[in-house]
Amino acid sequence: MTQVLQLEAKSPRPEVIEQAAAVIRTGGLVAFPTETVYGLGADALNEAAVARIFEAKGRPPDNPLIAHVANREMLDVVATGISENAERLIERFWPGPLTIVLQRQPVVPFSISAGLPTVAVRMPKHDVALALIRASNTPIAAPSANRSGKPSPTLAAHVLEDLRGRIDLILDAGATEIGVESTVLDMTIDPPVILRPGWVTSEMLNDVIGPLGLSGSDELLMRSPGTRHRHYSPRARLILIEETSPEQLPDIYADPRSHRSIVFIGHSDLYIDDPRFHTIQIGSDPGEYARSIYAALREADRLNPDLIIVEGISDSGEGAAVMDRLRRAASGPSK
Ligand code: TXA
Ligand code: MG
Repeated sequence: MTQVLQLEAKSPRPEVIEQAAAVIRTGGLVAFPTETVYGLGADALNEAAVARIFEAKGRPPDNPLIAHVANREMLDVVATGISENAERLIERFWPGPLTIVLQRQPVVPFSISAGLPTVAVRMPKHDVALALIRASNTPIAAPSANRSGKPSPTLAAHVLEDLRGRIDLILDAGATEIGVESTVLDMTIDPPVILRPGWVTSEMLNDVIGPLGLSGSDELLMRSPGTRHRHYSPRARLILIEETSPEQLPDIYADPRSHRSIVFIGHSDLYIDDPRFHTIQIGSDPGEYARSIYAALREADRLNPDLIIVEGISDSGEGAAVMDRLRRAASGPSK
């Protein structure tokens, strides 16, 4: 049985937090909101509890988890070798959507880091998340609370859809604010490298610690095993129209095979009056895309179309995180 408890995002009721913390302390699984997406939490120092996360999600064991902390002491419990630049980033961006990869302390279970000598750590900017970590009195390991490969959950309903019966508790505090996952920055190499783009952009990081290394190499794939797997995907085949290639649109439209069910997710109203398209419209700015895209992909899936077409946005600034997820959703075999 999966219990769902509603609570306020701001100043959540201590009794509800205490109930959830008791589940964490006894090795259970609690889904909770962060400012980015809902996470699936377990005691980060309890190997058996961490193993339950992988099982509930169907997550490949080579994809490591982020340890969530509520204060500096907890950071020092899980990580070491924190450079001056890492200190600067922590000062500037925590709590917030920046995950920092550091040297792992031996107390952290092997499985969280998928065998790597490093650990990814972040301090979320959400009253429920911070209160839960504090009340649990332990760092909380938490991947996004979706079945592996599916779009990340931005509502408690998405968590329930994927994990009902597989986890103990869901804390429902409404929609998450940002909608895409945190930036993951590897600080164990020089210069540091972004392993996953997010709401904290490379420009913002650059302003604090200077130039970053280049992302996208083979070396990067080895360092961030998670990036190898297909991700964020609905069931139907997904075509992404890059901002630079709008001429693709008429081609798809003219294709005779397009006499089938198609969901169009985008900001332009191209197909709004065409009965062959079910249109899910999103405002064109990156913030709106980030907040809405995962819910839109889930809605598209419920309509069970043959094809989903997503209109991309500019890759610059915050758009980079959105486009990274959409490219991953579009790649790989269709199921
Ligand atoms: O916003 C977020 O980051 C959300 C919320 C719940 O905090 N969490 C999240 O976790 O997105 P997850 O597990 O879905 O993504 C974690 C990412 C994966 O790409 C994983 O490969 C990478 O972080 N990662 C974790 N530990 C790592 C490590 N030691 N070295 C390199 N990459 C790591
Ligand atoms: Mg995830």
